Amino acid sequence: MWSGKRVLVTGGAGFLGSSVSHALAAKGAEVIALDAMLPGTGANRHNLAGCDVRLVEGDLRSMDLAEVTDGIDAVFNMAAQISHAGSQADPLDDLSINATAQLRLILALRVRSPKAIVVHGSTRQFYGRPQALPVPESHPISPPDANGVSKFAGEQYWMLENKVHCRPVVSLRLTNCYGPRLRIMDHRQTFLGIWFRRVLEGQPFEVWGGAQTRDLAYADDVVAAFIAAAETEAAHGKVFNLGGSPPISLKALADTLIAANGGEGCYIEKEFPADRAAIDIGSYYADDSAFRRVTGWAPRVGLEEGLRRSLDWYRERLADYV
Ligand SMILES: NC(=O)c1ccc[n+]([C@@H]2O[C@H](COP(=O)([O-])OP(=O)(O)OC[C@H]3O[C@@H](n4cnc5c(N)ncnc54)[C@H](O)[C@@H]3O)[C@@H](O)[C@H]2O)c1
Repeated sequence: MWSGKRVLVTGGAGFLGSSVSHALAAKGAEVIALDAMLPGTGANRHNLAGCDVRLVEGDLRSMDLAEVTDGIDAVFNMAAQISHAGSQADPLDDLSINATAQLRLILALRVRSPKAIVVHGSTRQFYGRPQALPVPESHPISPPDANGVSKFAGEQYWMLENKVHCRPVVSLRLTNCYGPRLRIMDHRQTFLGIWFRRVLEGQPFEVWGGAQTRDLAYADDVVAAFIAAAETEAAHGKVFNLGGSPPISLKALADTLIAANGGEGCYIEKEFPADRAAIDIGSYYADDSAFRRVTGWAPRVGLEEGLRRSLDWYRERLADYV
């Protein structure tokens, strides 16, 4: 299905965008990885090392989109502002990337590639604090922060494109994802990034709270889900949750990370910081049975295995990521 196909991956130098780019290039697609290389995001040139793609540096908010949207067969839309605290600090910047820039891309594609399939990287964030677990797609929307508002707006613009202009669009509401190419410099992308860094540097990491549950998704499984979403016609026009491994508390996750590092490492337990508690969603895990049913997808990489693979990957490239 992918050989010779022209594919646009927005956010293509980031964590998930580069992971998708590697997979599609390996399947013979002509991949354009578009990225603004924004500081503070997961953008990293090393993410595309060894990958046969064309990296186009440009910002969806301002660049001329004609060339990169011309004759495209599929779009994997990963460009976003993903920091929750960052969205609260600068909601206008967050909105400009997660909503306004999405409209610019939608309008350009309407002219240049009206039939291209779009798989949109959405988030579980806008469900807010879950009313019950697991969380299905029918859970009420209650964004806990500006990022939740902007990401919901962006998703809905894409779904409107499906309803009104019949474009095949699938939106995947992701849980916490991890794996190679994640930003590990600090905790801006996810707490797990800085946990990886600390473990690899032989330093203690901090566990805030510890009782909250998460259903972490390994990058290879997320990539497989995005490709399955594009390939499965019955998925087009729909919004799906995407979960990962069975739910685990953060404290148990910390222990699993140390086990995955051969028993080496330690952590400090801390109260959840008051300034973050206001936008925290507590425990979460997804009901992603609809996506599994429609596409046949299921995660293949268990948690300890995924953590071990991630640590091994960074161990060889630490200097490029810290
Ligand atoms: N990683 C996760 O755990 C997670 C969880 C839920 C949802 N998501 C969603 O998945 C998608 C990918 O996230 P990620 O983890 O790979 O993030 P990331 O920060 O690693 O990648 C995002 C990339 O988008 C680029 N970008 C941002 N604004 C841009 C613009 N205006 N023009 C061009 N490029 C721009 C950045 O430079 C960066 O490289 C996002 O839509 C995010 O909301 C991710």
